[in-house]
Amino acid sequence: MSASTSADVLPDELGVGQTERVTAPTRSGTQVTESRQRVANQDQMLSKLMIKLMIPTTTALVSFQGADPSDPGTDERPPLEHASTVEPNNLTMRPITGREELGLFCQLPYTLNEELADDLDQGRRRPEWMWMALLGDRLLARAAWWSRPGGDTPASLDVLDVDDSLPVPDRVEIGVRLLRTAMSATLPGGSTPPEYSRLIPPDWRDGASSRGIVEDRMAILERTGARLFVERLRLEWRPGTPGPEPSGRLAFRTPRNPSELPALMTRVLDGTLDAHSRHDLDRMSADAAATRHYEDELARYTSPKDWWRVAVLPNAAPVGFVVPAHNGYHAIIAYIAVLPEHRGNRYVDDLLSEGTRVLAQQNVPRVRASTDLGNVPMANAFQRAGYLNFGREINMTWS
Ligand SMILES: CC(C)(COP(=O)(O)OP(=O)(O)OC[C@H]1O[C@@H](n2cnc3c(N)ncnc32)[C@H](O)[C@@H]1OP(=O)(O)O)[C@@H](O)C(=O)NCCC(=O)NCCS
Repeated sequence: MSASTSADVLPDELGVGQTERVTAPTRSGTQVTESRQRVANQDQMLSKLMIKLMIPTTTALVSFQGADPSDPGTDERPPLEHASTVEPNNLTMRPITGREELGLFCQLPYTLNEELADDLDQGRRRPEWMWMALLGDRLLARAAWWSRPGGDTPASLDVLDVDDSLPVPDRVEIGVRLLRTAMSATLPGGSTPPEYSRLIPPDWRDGASSRGIVEDRMAILERTGARLFVERLRLEWRPGTPGPEPSGRLAFRTPRNPSELPALMTRVLDGTLDAHSRHDLDRMSADAAATRHYEDELARYTSPKDWWRVAVLPNAAPVGFVVPAHNGYHAIIAYIAVLPEHRGNRYVDDLLSEGTRVLAQQNVPRVRASTDLGNVPMANAFQRAGYLNFGREINMTWS
């Protein structure tokens, strides 16, 4: 994986007009009432169970931490007031049987819930990659992997949730147990697990609860050996948003042949600030890294390759390129780069406005992109072009 807008290759969680907060918009009032009743019954069940889990301190009575409905990632469950624990032997850990269990799987809120049905239909997910930890019919934790359509192994772990109303040590412990079980059943033996991705609000560190939700999941992943790899900005442009006028310094053309883009991609890796690219360069040649990025990602987009643009000077020398695409969810700026010898001239602005213009011509409702928090020149270019930072993404990896 390299400098691509990897978050936007993944299923994306927000539609136009939605906020980062999960509000379960499809639920009717009746359904919410029924759901609350069911939860209350199960809370009684939980409270009778006495926590033992794996952690000695949890044998003491502890209070459930109430979910804060104002925070993204929490649900509508009422705070649990009883002291309560979960006996691990009472947990069932298994994948969903199929599409018919999506309702159960979506008992825990997350912004990707609304895409899961279509992902199953499109072959981007498989039931056997969607694991649950259940207490009766109450979902306490879940994990799910995603792939490109028809992929035979998971390409990313993009769902990991626990019931945030459980006491802290228990929810982490249940998450760890589920993730370990699911990983050993789902991933090829001896392989490095695919990257973890969590979509989060831009200000996730500011609220104690939103921060806790992210940090609990990170704690679960760390217990299985994962480490924080990079934090990324998620960006969106809407039609009509003004951006910088093209400077007129560059002309644009499509790549001359199938090998031109991989060759330019090799050259732009020099001096890149992108964490995935730098990681690749520590392990392989620039040529190999660019080829892999091209073949594993860019060449696979089914959107027309005649959207791709190479920027050239009046003397026809290439300056950089932009790859507008559609990833099955959104129009995206899949990749954009300026050759090292041309950096520092704001050519990125010309490339970004050309790539955005190509997509806008398709009458798309929005254009998505992402870049590393640390790729400051790129983040600034998106801001100048009128892209709004509507979220962030955490990537964690196992080495
Ligand atoms: C990100 C990138 C497209 C910026 O292109 P650019 O046209 O040079 O951008 P700007 O001219 O706006 O640069 C602004 C400043 O950042 C500096 N800068 C740009 N790229 C830099 C880099 N890779 N490393 C260090 N500084 C960089 C410029 O020199 C300039 O500095 P100055 O203000 O002191 O003159 C270019 O660095 C690049 O191709 N990087 C590799 C690919 C990449 O990361 N793509 C984005 C993937 S999401």
